[in-house]
Amino acid sequence: MNNELYAVVGHPICHSKSPRIHSLFAAQTGESVEYTSVQAPLDGFAATVRQFFANGGKGLNVTVPFKEQAWALAECRAARAEKAGAANTLYQNNEGQLVADNTDGHGLVRDLVANHSVQLKDARVLVLGAGGAVRGVLGPLLEQQPASLTIANRTVAKADALVELFADEAGAATLSACGFEEPGQPFDVIVNGTSASLQGDLPPLRANVIGASTVVYDMMYSLQTTTFNQWALDNGAIRVFDGLGMLVEQAAESFRVWRGVRPETAPVIDALRDD
Ligand code: ATR
Repeated sequence: MNNELYAVVGHPICHSKSPRIHSLFAAQTGESVEYTSVQAPLDGFAATVRQFFANGGKGLNVTVPFKEQAWALAECRAARAEKAGAANTLYQNNEGQLVADNTDGHGLVRDLVANHSVQLKDARVLVLGAGGAVRGVLGPLLEQQPASLTIANRTVAKADALVELFADEAGAATLSACGFEEPGQPFDVIVNGTSASLQGDLPPLRANVIGASTVVYDMMYSLQTTTFNQWALDNGAIRVFDGLGMLVEQAAESFRVWRGVRPETAPVIDALRDD
């Protein structure tokens, strides 16, 4: 049987780990999947998507800087993609309509809860950042029913806007927004969703947001301990994780959406760590 074609589209795309992850999934599950990468011109995302599907492509992952455009281009959206305002997964339904999904938040929650046994239910959660990456994970985090979810951002107005947007999904959780320097008590879980470390910056948090049992998750991944995780360790965090597991988990969820088969993620996370 011929392989069915999938790809990740972004700009730039050369460092993407998605082709490696999905080829490991295909080998593991025996699914007839071929997965490549496509660099779309910055002004040519929609044309690239249309051409991919016109040529028989079955599904796309979408990465920086096109996730918002992918969301806007779609004719239908999965419920979890609707409020995220961004999509990382595209495919066509039986009517030939372009469907957008967002598996990033699922990937984060699954890595925390299933892979690292971090309890989010009833936890006091601090999320740093209020950009596209954070907007994509707030719905799945709130679904876990934390006691509170505090969004801290450099530009507080953007955190305020997210609180307003997600107020109806908060349930019993206390959802609030603030600047980085405001929180002055320990949290159970801190998730860094800012891009500050790309510039080697640290959000100026007070050290006492870290308590004796605080778990820290940096959505960035890197070979070395990330700048943020090093800061957290230096200030007493009990466990720190980077975003490699989230990357593999969001990919596994996309694979499941497309193929109806959920790959095992642990061997793939291990393989990527060893690369
Ligand atoms: P992404 O898609 O990665 O979320 P984004 O939408 O541009 O990208 O959002 C980047 C986030 O990182 C924002 O929360 C941004 O803060 P502002 O909303 O105040 O711009 C945050 N960020 C970027 N650089 C930062 C820095 N040097 N220090 C602190 N926060 C930073």
